[in-house]
Amino acid sequence: MKRIVIGVDGSAQANRAVDVAARLAADAGAEMTLVAVLTLPYVLDVEDEAYAKAERISLQEVKEMYVDPRPPFLFRARERAAISGLRFIETVATVGDPAEELVKAADRRQADLIVVGRRGRGQIASLVFGSVSLKTLQLATCPVMIVP
Ligand SMILES: Nc1ncnc2c1ncn2[C@@H]1O[C@H](COP(=O)(O)OP(=O)(O)O)[C@@H](O)[C@H]1O
Ligand SMILES: [Mg+2]
Repeated sequence: MKRIVIGVDGSAQANRAVDVAARLAADAGAEMTLVAVLTLPYVLDVEDEAYAKAERISLQEVKEMYVDPRPPFLFRARERAAISGLRFIETVATVGDPAEELVKAADRRQADLIVVGRRGRGQIASLVFGSVSLKTLQLATCPVMIVP
């Protein structure tokens, strides 16, 4: 196993997926890529407050996303992964459909595994965008691990 791609959205479930993937990568001597797919541009016509509510984040966090498109949780995820002793951790922030972008990122890197949490942020968002973990499973061309 050479490379593992992990989808992160700042949720507790995604954090657990990072922990599991980091241990796996450390054991296998694999490199890892943390991918955060930002959907903000698709909801720009929605009030900040409604977006914050839907994603269950604070208004302050929404504002931070405007100032710097790379979300702070992406760097926190890297710090988490580094605890397992990993030396090569790539972080990627991209825009688009989360599942499609995760699979694309994995394909481009010829990743051996995609790791996602079973659930992520917010149930309102999942009704609008569909379940990222399930869609990733449907589109992936490599094995997928879903962490409960
Ligand atoms: N925007 C995103 N970028 C990267 N990974 C994501 C994104 N959204 C979800 N994921 C991954 O998919 C997992 C499941 O989230 P999701 O299917 O969106 O559940 P929910 O419907 O509860 O929000 C998350 O734990 C995370 O690993
Ligand atoms: Mg979600």
